[in-house]
Amino acid sequence: MDIHKLQEIVHKTRDARRKQTMPKLSTAERDELIKKYHPDFRENAYRPIKFGPNEGEKTVRELAALLEGDSPVPADLDLTPTHTCDVLVVGGGGAGCAAALHAHAQGASVLFATKLRLGDSNTVMAQGGIQISVAAEDSPVTHFLDTLKGGHMKNDHALLKVMVEEGPSVAQWLLDLGVLFDRDADGNLHVKKGGGSSKPRLLTCSDYTGLEIMRVLKDEVLNRKIRMLEFSAAVELLSDGQGRCTGAVLQDLDNKRFIVVAAKTVILATGGIGRLHIQGFPTSNHYGATGDGLTMAYRMGAKLMHIDTFQYHPSGAVYPEQLAGALVTEGIRSEGGHLVNAKGERFVNELDTRDVVSSSIIRECKEGRGIRTMAGRVGVWLDTPLLDAEQGPGTIEKHFPAMVMQYDRFGVDISKDPVLIYPTLHYQNGGVQIDTQGESGVKGLFVAGEASGGLHGRNRLMGNSLLDLMVYGKRSGLTAAARSKAEPQGKLTLDHLKRFREVARKHGASASVVSPMLFPAYAKKD
Ligand code: FUM
Repeated sequence: MDIHKLQEIVHKTRDARRKQTMPKLSTAERDELIKKYHPDFRENAYRPIKFGPNEGEKTVRELAALLEGDSPVPADLDLTPTHTCDVLVVGGGGAGCAAALHAHAQGASVLFATKLRLGDSNTVMAQGGIQISVAAEDSPVTHFLDTLKGGHMKNDHALLKVMVEEGPSVAQWLLDLGVLFDRDADGNLHVKKGGGSSKPRLLTCSDYTGLEIMRVLKDEVLNRKIRMLEFSAAVELLSDGQGRCTGAVLQDLDNKRFIVVAAKTVILATGGIGRLHIQGFPTSNHYGATGDGLTMAYRMGAKLMHIDTFQYHPSGAVYPEQLAGALVTEGIRSEGGHLVNAKGERFVNELDTRDVVSSSIIRECKEGRGIRTMAGRVGVWLDTPLLDAEQGPGTIEKHFPAMVMQYDRFGVDISKDPVLIYPTLHYQNGGVQIDTQGESGVKGLFVAGEASGGLHGRNRLMGNSLLDLMVYGKRSGLTAAARSKAEPQGKLTLDHLKRFREVARKHGASASVVSPMLFPAYAKKD
């Protein structure tokens, strides 16, 4: 059916909905909803990991296969180093840039390796803002409590305490570097409210906050002339044979040759796993988000945590087909956008936590109150024209220019037409277990940003990812630099890989699965 015909119900019911306040669910109701509808609770999507540090624990089948997968590196690879450095940073997004900049500022010799280009990451696609308690009526304690509640009380308290307390200094650092955060008419930083937060706390740059932060960080990395290898994917770590990480093997994506890097410390900032499309979900993630850091750290013996929980962002685009899975920022709901089913009804408090909102959308669609596209996708409406109706014409265009442009390319005017949305795979809540300096269970191996786990518990709040990147990028960069001064370069071996292969063989793991995967299964390999 014509999409405009289907949209009529949203326009017709707008005025009545504007008078409505959505009730808040009790904790028991929220828990029940999540258990019934959230993809984390689909038993058959999970299986126990056969061996390694998380043996017996369940994760999604796609990730389990990669964790048990074999390295592309031959055991007899010549380990004469092509490069040596104090700190090897792997991953060209926000956490990698922050780590490289802070380590470099300490005088460490830094080598920055990225699978794609500098900046190709989820960070540039972060739209809604960075949560930092800078407002007078806010505090790090309130930020801590909101995040803990959002994470179902499963967050690592020590990691979280550090993140919220260091937030204001991160805001200052970014401002000093030149990030143009939105301001109020009086010149104060403008703050917005995100889902699950009790106070407005999001610093924004319209709806391209991550892109603006990365503009500045990339400039800084280039200005400081930090040594960089682009299109060089890390595929294996190196150890001294005694459990310490001493470097990595990269693969030049142009000629497929291996590059051996001797490093006194390694920081993995490789991001998440959206491009594994777990459970068949579309994703908001960038092309390289294939969980590379998780598989390398796991082979080296690092423990992972919370790898049974993933974030399905409530508003992934459903129509037009070319945008399937692309992020439609939570900022629109923060500013009052309603979620509306096929009957023209609201069905959830739009600013509840993401797991609750996503579960509610899935329920509506399962129970026949979703809207089906010609391509066979299903979703519910996000009433975007409501923002102009409430706040005056031009609001959408002024507050969400990136979103307007995303849809305008396909002839959709979101200030006039509501958009169809459905949950999209957005974030891995867990990752490699780290301490408050960003160090994993493997000495000399640091992990920052989405590849790490524990901080966000079982559900991350909007805007906490960008802060996580900056805080743990900085901490891992500083600690790695200090460690590199104190310790000599260790031996370069693949002993851990030999051990891993022996165990894998005993467990009958398939040698045909090679990890890291580097690109999604549908990538054109040439
Ligand atoms: O909806 C958003 O803009 C996403 C933000 C986030 O995941 O932090």
